[in-house]
Amino acid sequence: MLDFKDMDWWDFVSKILRPVLKWFDPNEWQVRRLWKRIQAINALEPEVQKWRDEDFPRKTEEFRQQLQAYTAEFRAQYEAKLREYRACKEPEERFRLEEEVAKLDLAVKRKEQEFLNSILPLAFAMVREAGRRTVKMRHFDVQLMGGIVLHEGKIAEMKTGEGKTLVATLPVYLNALTGRGVHVVTVNDYLAKRDAEWMGPIYEYLGLTVGYIQHFMETPERKRMYACDVTYVTNSELGFDYLRDNLVHSLDDVVLREMFYAIVDEVDSILIDEARTPHIIGGMVEKPTDIIEKADRIVRQLRKEVDFTVDEKHRTVALTDEGVRRVEQLWGISNLSAPENFAIYHAVMNALKAHHLFKNDVHYVVKDNEVIIVDEFTGRLQWGRRWSDGLHQAVEAKEGIPIKQEMQTIATITLQNFFRMYFKLAGMTGTAKTEEQEFIKIYGMPVVVIPTHKPMIRKDYPDVVYKTQEQKYRGVVREILQLYAIQRPVLVGTRSIEVNELISERLSPHYLQALALCTLVLDRAWTMHNQKQLTREELDQIRQVVNERLEELEVGRLRTLARKLGIDPDPLHPANLKRFAELIKIPEEHMDKALARLEEALKDGVPHNVLNAKHHEREAQIIAEAGRLGKLRSQPTWQVAALTSSWEANPIPKMPLRNFVMTTTAMLSSCTTRNIMLSRLWVACMFWARSDTKRGALTTNCAVAAVDKETQEVLGSMSPLRTNCGDFTAIKG
Ligand SMILES: Nc1ncnc2c1ncn2[C@@H]1O[C@H](COP(=O)(O)OP(=O)(O)OP(=O)(O)O)[C@@H](O)[C@H]1O
Ligand SMILES: [Mg+2]
Repeated sequence: MLDFKDMDWWDFVSKILRPVLKWFDPNEWQVRRLWKRIQAINALEPEVQKWRDEDFPRKTEEFRQQLQAYTAEFRAQYEAKLREYRACKEPEERFRLEEEVAKLDLAVKRKEQEFLNSILPLAFAMVREAGRRTVKMRHFDVQLMGGIVLHEGKIAEMKTGEGKTLVATLPVYLNALTGRGVHVVTVNDYLAKRDAEWMGPIYEYLGLTVGYIQHFMETPERKRMYACDVTYVTNSELGFDYLRDNLVHSLDDVVLREMFYAIVDEVDSILIDEARTPHIIGGMVEKPTDIIEKADRIVRQLRKEVDFTVDEKHRTVALTDEGVRRVEQLWGISNLSAPENFAIYHAVMNALKAHHLFKNDVHYVVKDNEVIIVDEFTGRLQWGRRWSDGLHQAVEAKEGIPIKQEMQTIATITLQNFFRMYFKLAGMTGTAKTEEQEFIKIYGMPVVVIPTHKPMIRKDYPDVVYKTQEQKYRGVVREILQLYAIQRPVLVGTRSIEVNELISERLSPHYLQALALCTLVLDRAWTMHNQKQLTREELDQIRQVVNERLEELEVGRLRTLARKLGIDPDPLHPANLKRFAELIKIPEEHMDKALARLEEALKDGVPHNVLNAKHHEREAQIIAEAGRLGKLRSQPTWQVAALTSSWEANPIPKMPLRNFVMTTTAMLSSCTTRNIMLSRLWVACMFWARSDTKRGALTTNCAVAAVDKETQEVLGSMSPLRTNCGDFTAIKG
């Protein structure tokens, strides 16, 4: 029903136009096409439900034999050609035969796919029934839809919590019937193990073997795991195994089988964000480090804009002519560009980059005499990774810690090139449509947006853009204060540790009071200006003082200014507090209680935890504390008890954030203190969205499909709002 009362004109037009536009949306056509296939699967369900347990593996075996029979002719040709190739000694001829073998191999695989397409409805119906009987999850219709999309070698965009893990079982089963081995690629070891163990019962019930790879596994175990019908593995293990396979001396040490079909979970982060990072197997090379130290000493004496220039945007540095002369003079050489001085030039450029492009606590942190790279996307520490080409050593020299030997590349491949070697590649994620062109161009994979199982109840608000960084930080802190005052949990995501700590600092009483006073002074100045009691010049002068970075603001001057304008310089004065509360838009209905909390916040600061790469070890604990109502210290014990007891039953050390959300979702159904759990779930979801912020869309819908109606309603009322600007994102729930 259209509700005309509260609707504005644009809302009205868009509601009318939406169904019309939908008809023209190519994605809708895809979805309509897929619905037809789903009906075929649904029609087979009653029959499959009657099957006995042993009928399932038997049918799997039958499928396999049928597949062999279906492709027999093609395979015979392929094998004959392969024998011919192996027997051939003549290089030219071998080269030609090799191509023919590859062509025939492709033909066999295509034929296999043809057969798989024909049995898809029954195979999917079987997997659905196996899921229902073993892991007690019956694939929803939209999950079947996702399954078909994956089988077609495309990307299924399914919102977070829609059950992509379960979706993968459908095409995995179907394609594993070829016996070629299917890889499900996850972002970390934890997920590889979890998903393999979680979905394992389905595969085993159907008569397939399933394995997973962990970082610590040795060659024989890896080999065994890759020999399974289904292998869950991270992209980096897969990439490194491929490189190692190419370096081994004996065929027995090769662990991977063929690259047949891979389903990449979180495909955007693996195939786009990380794809150009090469995987490198390296060995140490002895190189003198004194040149690096000397370059470091010299670069410290160079002057920016005189001796060198920095292009922050393109992340490059360049020496000026004057700089070149200065380096030559300081180093004691006559020509920096002479071939014999190349190493010196290289070291100087690296030192310049280390000093002016790579920042401590942003790009790396220094811990235990080591420079550890911070992942740009996730903010996590990347232990053991080193920048190549002497850059890491230059940073070590800059930080004055021991310089390690450089690695020399022995084998390398980018993920992009690696994944393109698969016969069939598919992916799933919550956000891919925005990168569709890139996926098509690089991997030939279009994106199909799968509808959610239940209607979406989350609201996405537009970004807020501020003119200056200072304005942005102030806006964020004001919003935090507002939410804190009305008892809502808040998560603040930042792009760097530096900003993360700056915001944390700004939540201390000193800065909060300064901010309150600034806001009040500005408000009064504007009012007076509007009433013609202040001239434009006077207003501008006040604005100049007040808009100074809070860290540099002279509080004495601010107080004097306040007095001059007739404001009590104490921000905690009741009249000030009341006005400040109005200015930060605390809703009228919350005002009474909110004022007390606001006062508390200004006096003692906003209690919060800081989660960044530096506090990595405490991550689980920090998340466990996230979203607790109010101050931890004054927390009524029954609330904390309800939470901690759940955590003891379900500990989350090192658990990835998204799993935390899942666990929380699962706990919701049994939790009596529902509201607290919800607020924690919410914060967790926001944490989780942290890594997706650059994409401009939150991918969180809180696993809404999996929770009951009442919970959905509460979640719906906690609509999120993002304040996003460049490197900063604040999210409120
Ligand atoms: N068909 C189903 N029936 C019941 N529960 C389901 C079904 N499918 C998924 N779930 C539940 O939904 C939750 C989310 O599943 P899952 O982690 O696979 O989602 P996802 O789409 O992979 O999310 P993410 O984007 O975080 O990776 C799980 O708790 C799972 O048990
Ligand atoms: Mg998932």
